[in-house]
Order: sequence, then C-alpha cells, then structure tokens
Amino acid sequence: MSAKKAVQMSGIIAGETVIATVGKEGKGLTYRGYTIEDLAQYSTFEEVAYLLLIGRLPRSSELAALNADLKSKRGLPAGLKTILENLPASANPMEVLRTGCSALGCLEPEKTIEDQLPAALRLLACLPSMLAYWHHFATTGKRIEVETDDESIATHFLHMLHGVPPGPTIARAMDVSLILYAEHEFNASTFASRITTSTMSDMHSAICTGIGTLRGPLHGGANEKAMELIERFENADDAEAGVMAGLSRKEKFMGFGHPVYTENDPRSDIIKSWSLKISQEAGDTRLWDISERIETVMMREKKMFPNLDFFSASAYHMMGIPTAMFTPIFVLSRVSGWATHVFEQRSSGRIIRPSAEYTGPEKRAYVEIEERSA
Ligand code: COA
Repeated sequence: MSAKKAVQMSGIIAGETVIATVGKEGKGLTYRGYTIEDLAQYSTFEEVAYLLLIGRLPRSSELAALNADLKSKRGLPAGLKTILENLPASANPMEVLRTGCSALGCLEPEKTIEDQLPAALRLLACLPSMLAYWHHFATTGKRIEVETDDESIATHFLHMLHGVPPGPTIARAMDVSLILYAEHEFNASTFASRITTSTMSDMHSAICTGIGTLRGPLHGGANEKAMELIERFENADDAEAGVMAGLSRKEKFMGFGHPVYTENDPRSDIIKSWSLKISQEAGDTRLWDISERIETVMMREKKMFPNLDFFSASAYHMMGIPTAMFTPIFVLSRVSGWATHVFEQRSSGRIIRPSAEYTGPEKRAYVEIEERSA
C-alpha cells in the first residue's frame, strides 16, 4: 500500500461525537469536556463511567447508587461458570472475555432499548468476575467467590486475582489506570463497535467486536508487548544498547507512537508517575529505570514518545498482574467507552458503510474453466 493510502487510514473524520476529544492541536484528551489530568486526579473510575454513560458527573447519592448497583451485578450465572470452566488454561484471556461476553448475551440478552444501560452496567460489573473466575479455575481448579464486598471495580478485581484486598497505593493506581483506559474517541475497537451497532445489532455483539479488535498489538495488545520489551533487559544501560541495536534493524517498539497524538500522549505521564510510586513503595525501581531509559532513547533517536501502554506495563507488573492480563484489564475499563459509543451510535440511527477506492483489474471477459492458465 502506498504511503498516501496508508495516511488515509487514520485521521479521517468518520462521524460526530460528544463523548471525547483526542489530540486536539496535537495533544490533550477530554471526556465530555473534562481533562484526563483532572479526572485522573479527582475522580474514581466509577465516576468516570457514570460521566461517560450518563453524560454528566454524578452527585454523591447517584455515585453511591451506582456503586451499589455495580456490586449487585458482580455474580456470574451458573451456565456462564460452566462455559468458563470448559475453556482451557492455554486460552488467551482476551478469548475468554470475548467468549464470556458472548455467552452473557445469550443468557441475559438485551430485549429492548431500555435494557441498554443495565446491560452495559452488567458487563462493567461482571467482566472482572469472568476473568478472575476463569483464571483461578484454569490454573488451580479452584472455584472462587466473585461476589466480594469491595467498594470499587479496581479493588474487586485485584482482590479476586490475588485472594487478598490490595493496599491503598496499588488500589488507587489500578483505579487511575482504569480511568486512563476508559475512552478514546474513534479508536479502532470503538469504531468497530460502532459499525456493529450501526446495523441495529445488540450490545453484546458490539462489545465482542470491540474485544476482538482491541486484542492486536498495534492497539490494546501493545501493553503486553511493551512488557516483553522491558523484560528483555537487565538494567538501563543494557536497555539503551538493546534499543539502539533494534532501531538500527528498524525494529518497531510497542508502546511508542500514536496515530493521532503528535506531541505526546497525555495519559503517559500520569501512569508513569503511578508506576514510579508503586515501584518505590515496593523498593524495586529496576523495570521503571529500564522503561525511562527506553523513553529517553526513543525521544532522542526517533522523536517518539511513549503512549499509555508503555508505562502501564511496569505499573501492572509491579501490581503482581500476569502479563497476559494486561490487555484484558484494558477491556474491563474500555467497556464503559464502548457502551457509551453504542448509545451514541444508536441515537444517530445511521448505518456506517464506507466505500473503497477500487484498484483491481478492468472489466474483462469470463474465462471457461478448461481455458484457464495458472
Ligand atoms: N517504534 C519504532 N518505530 C516506529 C514506531 C515504534 N513504535 N511506530 C512508528 N515507527 C516508525 C515507523 O517504522 C515508520 O518509519 P518509516 O517512516 O521509516 O517507515 C514511522 O515511524 C511512521 O510509522 P507509522 O506506522 O506509519 O505510524 P502511524 O502513526 O501510522 O502508526 C502506531 C501509529 C501506533 C500504529 C505505530 O506507532 C505503532 O505501531 N506503535 C507501536 C504499537 C503501539 O504502541 N500501539 C498502541 C497505540 S495506543
């Protein structure tokens, strides 16, 4: 594909939205007009989910009601547990979430438009349960309790994963990471979900589309690939030498670059500071030091900045999260953004059906089978 065609794949206005801005004047991210810096500093993930799904920040009674509702929606139906128990330990957790979401759509289908918000909240509340339930059953055969009394989605997930509730720094770091991953305008997975929605399909199909699209390493899968990169190195000097060698081979480093941001990814500095905080609290900044050196080298040599996925890798690792769960955690958060776009796309009532520029052969005569050459 020519450079001109490749450029045409990003940056095209493909519709209107009132949900988020990404990269206005080269930088900046807002959810419904609020900056990501303010949301990451002052909000909880549940407040952000409310902001996205309902359109405004909740009052405290509304937030309490949302938290109670989400808590009541954490349980998994018996049929879904059976399906999860039958998925192999070798499955990719993204496949598990895609399957779990699809199964929930069969067991608890959306019947009318009034079901769309409860269906979105149900997914937000129970996708973490699916992931943790399958993980423990597949690795140890244990059927864990998913209906914990934890206050937030962040603590619920970490409690189920580790069997003990997280400390306050790790709990807040996870909460902030969910805020950062929640929404990003017409990125590939969200746009794919909107296409599914535009045919008047259902919520679960749209979310399955999002999960499938997010999985690839050029999109959500980049956080896992970034972990593989930083784990290659012993220390910062080793990382510098390795990245220099990789750049001379034209290697692509996952967690760097962005199709929309041109100056920086505003989410990166936020997760970077949390990664440092967790690492310092654990008394082990080795992975953070390696990451920071890679950041320095990429800026110096390629003028490339890290995106959210890069420092998320060391942050999640220091939270004790297995690498294969990094992209699934992105799902646990982004489901709030996807569902909001499902609502918005539905309200437009239009099908998304782009056209292609045809570059194939001119019209030609049909060739009988016996006359065909290779
Ligand atoms: N590491 C090294 N070089 C990179 C790079 C990376 N992460 N990302 C882009 N480049 C280089 C390309 O090789 C290309 O070089 P060339 O002009 O010499 O061929 C140039 O920068 C432009 O790359 P391109 O892929 O066209 O940029 P894009 O803006 O279309 O793509 C991404 C954006 C995100 C797909 C791309 O930067 C990438 O693949 N990043 C790694 C995956 C990632 O982190 N994804 C998560 C995004 S949030």
